[in-house]
Amino acid sequence: MNNKIIIINGPNLNLLGEREQSQYGSITFDELEEICIKKSNELGLDMKFVHSNIEGELVNLIQQSINKFDGIIINAAAFTHTSIAIRDALDVFKKPIIEVHISNIYKREDFRHKSLISAVVTGIICGLGINGYILAINSMHEILLNEN
Ligand code: DQA
Repeated sequence: MNNKIIIINGPNLNLLGEREQSQYGSITFDELEEICIKKSNELGLDMKFVHSNIEGELVNLIQQSINKFDGIIINAAAFTHTSIAIRDALDVFKKPIIEVHISNIYKREDFRHKSLISAVVTGIICGLGINGYILAINSMHEILLNEN
């Protein structure tokens, strides 16, 4: 049976391609989803790609993932820097988690330098543009293969 992963995207990522292209590039959110579907299919991963602007909905998605998915890739966007609720939900998910940021959060404003979720994830990819999502899918694939 294929491994199942979920890619969870937080607030404003639906505006990719329109918002701050100098930070996030020109690829749209729909194009990013297509790229992630293609890569996951190539690797034989069943992948679900989701977005919410709402903190509680992201918490619900993480909780619902516990019995449905083998791994989470998450770009919590601005909630990375503020949400204890998302951190606590991720902490309950006892399987691999990869945190992704399109931009290099450490090169930006001070308030982006602190991630509340990094301490509860398996690994972090940031500053490599949307390629970070591809790297995360590849890494998740390897992690899950090595587990089985
Ligand atoms: C982001 C970085 C966050 O600081 C920001 O709030 C985002 C996107 C990134 O992918 O680079 O919305 O997570």
